[in-house]
Amino acid sequence: MSSPVSYSREGRIAIITVDNPPVNALALPVRAGLASAFAQLASDADAAGAVLICAGRTFIAGADITEFDKPIEEPWLPKVLAQIENSNKVVVAAIHGTALGGGLETAMSCHYRVAATTAQVGLPEVSLGLLPGATGTQRLPRLIGVQAALDAMISGRPLSAKVAHQKGLVDELVEGDLKAGAVAFAERFIASGQTPRKVRDIAVDTSSLPADFFATYRKNIARETRGFYAPEQIIQCVEAAVSLPFDEAVAVENRLFMGCMTSSHSRAQRHLFFAEREVAKIPDVPKDTALRPIKQVAVVGGGTMGGGIAMNFANVGIPVLLKEISQEALDRGMSIIRANYEGPVKKGKLSQEAMDKCMSLITPTLDYKDLASADLVIEAVFETMAIKKVVFGELDAVCKPGAILASNTSTLNVDEIAACTKRPEDVIGLHFFAPANVMSLLEIVRGGKTSHEVIATSMAMAKTIRKMGVLVRVCFGFVGNRMFFPYVREAQRMILEGVPAERIDRVAFEWGMAMGPNGVSDLSGLDVLDKVNKEWKEKPADPAYCRMIEVLVGMGRYGQKTGAGIYKYEGRNAVPDAEVAALAKAEATRLNVPQIEVSDEEIIERLLYSMINEGALILDEGIATRASDIDVVFCHGYGMPRYRGGPMKYGDEVGLATVVAAMEKYRKRYGDLYWTPAPLLAKLAAAGQKFTP
Ligand code: 3HC
Repeated sequence: MSSPVSYSREGRIAIITVDNPPVNALALPVRAGLASAFAQLASDADAAGAVLICAGRTFIAGADITEFDKPIEEPWLPKVLAQIENSNKVVVAAIHGTALGGGLETAMSCHYRVAATTAQVGLPEVSLGLLPGATGTQRLPRLIGVQAALDAMISGRPLSAKVAHQKGLVDELVEGDLKAGAVAFAERFIASGQTPRKVRDIAVDTSSLPADFFATYRKNIARETRGFYAPEQIIQCVEAAVSLPFDEAVAVENRLFMGCMTSSHSRAQRHLFFAEREVAKIPDVPKDTALRPIKQVAVVGGGTMGGGIAMNFANVGIPVLLKEISQEALDRGMSIIRANYEGPVKKGKLSQEAMDKCMSLITPTLDYKDLASADLVIEAVFETMAIKKVVFGELDAVCKPGAILASNTSTLNVDEIAACTKRPEDVIGLHFFAPANVMSLLEIVRGGKTSHEVIATSMAMAKTIRKMGVLVRVCFGFVGNRMFFPYVREAQRMILEGVPAERIDRVAFEWGMAMGPNGVSDLSGLDVLDKVNKEWKEKPADPAYCRMIEVLVGMGRYGQKTGAGIYKYEGRNAVPDAEVAALAKAEATRLNVPQIEVSDEEIIERLLYSMINEGALILDEGIATRASDIDVVFCHGYGMPRYRGGPMKYGDEVGLATVVAAMEKYRKRYGDLYWTPAPLLAKLAAAGQKFTP
């Protein structure tokens, strides 16, 4: 097999080219190829220097992430990078596309870096639960300073070539022919008679670091990195960079990298990396399915949801019509949108000009006839089937042929909605999550008759508006809400059993959820949850099912919006309410629900395993395409921490046999209704397999 790394010469400059599509990842053949190309450079008497460049769309985009689950094979990257740096002939990296992770580390082991003006460079390892483990934590502080290096590694955000140039990470920007620019740079350097500079020999500048720099840094990032393992490891590597000689600090980096690589966090985050790419692949919809152009969108319903949905399109320059039934509702809707834009403008995160442009793209209307020109119409009215049917009847009458008619329903049957039109093949569910202008998840619900074109166009549209589109099929609650119901059900049951609501939430929060189930219920609105339960035709025949929601709604306690729900509210602060605990006790007595001791471990098991089991049923029924799609739903729409990888990945990590054994324990206590393992779960557990192998 030919090597993905080739060696040639232009005059006295060797051209070492990496060609390993699609992103030139540093798989074993690339590392081996680099080692042999640089050995050839050393022995090539006619070569005075080298340019390291890549074929295809990008410079090396990092280590090969698929290799982290396997034993490391020599030559290991740090060894290859030391070989590059130790070349006594000057080596210039020529960067285009994205030099990321091990790719940037490779570039930093070269003596100099030139970059196309459109290039980006960064160390995004943290998003994979890793730290830059091929000397990146040591080289970046030497090149751009401690603070900037930490910021880049902790956020994982890439720098543009221009910024990298300003900071000293890139030595020269090249307009036009990158290879020619890099060769010219090398030639100039050789002509200058200087000795190549090794990044390892640059001293880390600590002159402006206050004594408490690292302590303050840790404090500043504590909130956004809560629970994640890798950020602290990165800080420790940079502490080593400022206090130890290069080789000793590299040994620290090496040790901490291995800790990250073998951590459950990194396994989970790597799983999500692939899951987020896999989710776009739909087995029965060919990749080359024709897409319908989406140049004009309409949203029916100008409430908080409709307004948020409209903003998504305006934000990417697509004009949107916002349809309401009264001028008053329309004015209110437009003013909510305006306020949503004004927030970031006040904080300096959005320019007034950008806001004005977005606002000018949103046109209010009261007339269905105006929707005739829309390529995509999204209904976002009240979550009641009867109202949705009326709206779709109107849309069917006015919309042009080929327009996509979408419903933002969060639970209702898309097929039933489609059936009241003469074009069910053009009807689809587009389930946005609140706040719709912020949350990254979009559940795309295909009906039984939805055409491939409409599915493919909806998936592409999700990407256009920067959402993670996950295709699901019709069932009550689809994937996200259907799995969220058992989670809330168990939280509710535990409240009846005498477990304080705030303790359940604290345990869920400590496990990593952005918010516990009771806080989320209050935020979503207990009235909304109660209404959903009442619309649910197959609601479990269990008088204790979400009973406290019913009781509290009956008292007018709808959650945050009424200042009281499961909690009392002081502003937005949730305060435990003894009255709720007393009410729960009385209800428990009435319903014969025993008061029991519940451990923290049991709280997590009941919240998570009930969800995992529902996920297995969903897979059994073909509602989701693959387990990892479910994980994407929960990490993008329900505040599940990426370091858990989603509920199904968590099940895989705990071990499905362990999940089933715990379920059997609860089945003995509560009966078959909720705790019978789904056939898929039971089968995989018995075979010692995982949802995602
Ligand atoms: N390893 C293995 N496969 C990779 C990969 C990598 N580093 N980067 C991308 N791929 C695969 C993707 O899974 C995808 O495969 P598919 O077509 O089968 O789904 C294919 O390459 C194309 O990737 P994208 O769809 O993401 O292509 P884009 O053009 O949208 O994005 C990119 C390109 C910006 C390079 C993006 O792929 C990316 O961010 N890659 C990961 C970069 C990264 O995290 N690097 C650090 C790796 S860890 C490391 O280097 C450790 C070191 O410190 C030791």
